[in-house]
Amino acid sequence: MAELVFPHRHLLGIEGLTPHDIEVLLELAEEQVSVSRQVEKKKSTLRGRTQINLFFEPSTRTQSSFELAGKRLGADVMNMSVSASSVKKGETLIDTAATLNAMRPDIIIVRHHAAGAVHLLAQKVDCSVVNAGDGAHEHPTQALLDALTIRRNKGTIQGLTVAICGDIQHSRVARSNLILLSALGARVRLVAPSTLLPSGIEHFKVEVHTAMKSGLEGADIVMMLRLQRERMNGSFIPSVREYFRYFGLDQEKLSYAKPDVLVMHPGPMNRGVEISTHVADGPQSLIREQVEMGVAVRMAVLEALASHLPNR
Ligand code: NCD
Repeated sequence: MAELVFPHRHLLGIEGLTPHDIEVLLELAEEQVSVSRQVEKKKSTLRGRTQINLFFEPSTRTQSSFELAGKRLGADVMNMSVSASSVKKGETLIDTAATLNAMRPDIIIVRHHAAGAVHLLAQKVDCSVVNAGDGAHEHPTQALLDALTIRRNKGTIQGLTVAICGDIQHSRVARSNLILLSALGARVRLVAPSTLLPSGIEHFKVEVHTAMKSGLEGADIVMMLRLQRERMNGSFIPSVREYFRYFGLDQEKLSYAKPDVLVMHPGPMNRGVEISTHVADGPQSLIREQVEMGVAVRMAVLEALASHLPNR
């Protein structure tokens, strides 16, 4: 690849990125994998810069991954969890943005329960903003780390059949992955009970299956999603036991896919609900590797944005 230039000031979603933008981030991430495997993991790309992790939703892996990524690039990282902040006291998102902006951060990483909140915040601050998940909308760094994991294991994304299974309706991971994987030439299938598929899905250029057998047939990658029970207001599934029986990934259902199929899950996993322990910890699972790639991808994103950071 000629030049690793990323032309955007923010990373708000996969939508709006070109295949070249995505390739640039994946290429940068490959370098960070090596850095992260060294004893000395520190770079100076963000030395003197301030990164704020502003999380309005609880998160373990995404927040710690962004924290490590910022620190490995030399930034000063501050974590702000909203349960401990003035939003609880009625401050609006815009007020919070203005307050943080006055502290002159260079990068703000935001997770919010409302779709679109991160875009809104990005318009109100002078620094770069990274979307770490907004409602059921987008989670771009998750899709990037999934793509990096797939590429490292399969050599390419072009031409692969990827089955994304489970609670599609409430999943920002499914949405970002669908956009990214299609942009890089994968065939994406969505597999879910009809109650967990978003309405209007038939208008998307994507194969939809309501049974695991047909959905997994010939798949190179099976990506399982968590049942997002915190986002459900109503009963979308008859019972967890029945859900596992029909849609939970166990060894038997996995055998419908290609013999060299690989299994992914963004975490946190509900073992025995969407995936069996046997499969989650089995030889075809990439779940741990996804976590490692998460730090590398977030370092790559921060580095890509570094050339756009405020200079005064
Ligand atoms: C995902 C998220 O928050 O959207 N998890 C994550 O980022 N590690 C998926 C999920 O919560 O199920």
